[in-house]
Amino acid sequence: MEKTALITGITGQDGSYLAEFLLRKGYRVHGIIRRSSSFNTSRLEHIYQDPHEPNPRLKLIYGDLNDASSLNRILRDLQPEEIYNLGAQSHVMVSFDVPEYTGEITGLGTVRLLEAIREAGIKPKFYQASSSELFGLAQEIPQNETTPFYPRSPYGCAKAYAFYMVRNYREAYSLFACNGILFNHESPRRGETFVSRKITRAATRIKLGLQDKLYLGNLEAKRDWGYAPDYVEAMWLMLQQDKPDDYVIATGETHSVREFVEHAFGLLGLNWKKHVEIDPRYIRPTEVDVLIGDFSKAKKDLGWKPKKKFEDLVRIMVEADLELAKKEAHMGAYLSRGQGASSRAHRRKSKERMADRGTARRME
Ligand code: NAP
Ligand code: GDD
Repeated sequence: MEKTALITGITGQDGSYLAEFLLRKGYRVHGIIRRSSSFNTSRLEHIYQDPHEPNPRLKLIYGDLNDASSLNRILRDLQPEEIYNLGAQSHVMVSFDVPEYTGEITGLGTVRLLEAIREAGIKPKFYQASSSELFGLAQEIPQNETTPFYPRSPYGCAKAYAFYMVRNYREAYSLFACNGILFNHESPRRGETFVSRKITRAATRIKLGLQDKLYLGNLEAKRDWGYAPDYVEAMWLMLQQDKPDDYVIATGETHSVREFVEHAFGLLGLNWKKHVEIDPRYIRPTEVDVLIGDFSKAKKDLGWKPKKKFEDLVRIMVEADLELAKKEAHMGAYLSRGQGASSRAHRRKSKERMADRGTARRME
């Protein structure tokens, strides 16, 4: 029989890959989206199904992790077999600016969802998007499921609260609930203010003469970077086991931000030192210096291992962003030739969009 899955955070990087993955597996997928004044579903366009079509297998529902009544209603009506809680204020640097909101969504939002399960009287399998940010000031290298937590940001602290609440609901109410402790994972769909995408967007735009500088913070931080589509498979595998448990998902390699920059610019034949400048506003009040995960438990129990590692990942992102930059360059050339009112309006809109993006980039 067809299974029904509910995804919070379906509009994000992981949500969009997970929705694709579950649809391929024959699931009916329901995703919670927030009301936004501008479209926030661009990552789902290719799998979107018109609700007027008979029996669509992907449905989007309005709700919010800050709104318990919407979560209660959705769970009561839908009674999904699997729930993937990916919704979060997920940006570490931003969490220093909005610590209370981050706690509200990333921490308490998880509890609202867990309570909605109890209210609805259902027993779905539950996946929680936990994070390697829990390890923060890492107490051992590499980090595994028994490494002590030492979060270093309001985001990390909120995720720690959610982690322990998920474990508590598993023990207190026999809920099939798993924490996936995922290390950084990236893709061409990564938000543009995370460092990987910020680098590949900038390097490819520099290559085509669309910008000249890339402003970054700490180049020495090291991350275990994997490929997002590999990681959503691990989420699903956790919920297919006989018993619920917590798993580290990682590549087992670590690379610095500097190496990411060197590799991305190198693929484009650019000398990064001519373009990259350090802007102290991107330096975090407390930093996570080094993350590297030991995924041997996931390999043993789930049969999971990463298919793509650092070099493949950077190449995939650079190639995708180069195509995007070419389209931008093409559009720019078209607009600068345009005379009519509509192209003037388009030009103005495009400038506004750039200004918006500039603001976000300055802040994160
Ligand atoms: P993302 O691209 O930032 O997506 C976050 C999602 O959460 C978006 O769909 C966003 O909706 C939604 N969201 C934000 N506030 C919400 C609210 N109040 N109510 C409901 N939904 C809300 O993040 P991601 O990279 O896909 O990561 C998915 C999850 O894994 C997050 O929980 C993140 O913290 C965690 N995680 C990520 C990584 C990683 O390296 N990517 C590693 C470990 C853990 P809008 O589109 O409307 O903003
Ligand atoms: N964002 C950003 N922007 N980071 C920068 C910059 C910059 O200009 N310059 C240097 N960095 C450094 C950060 O200081 C950090 O050490 C590293 O690059 C990675 O930053 P992000 O890409 O923002 O990711 P993150 O590691 O803080 O958090 C991501 O991974 C976590 C898993 O470990 C997010 O996806 C979290 O949601 C996720 O839990």
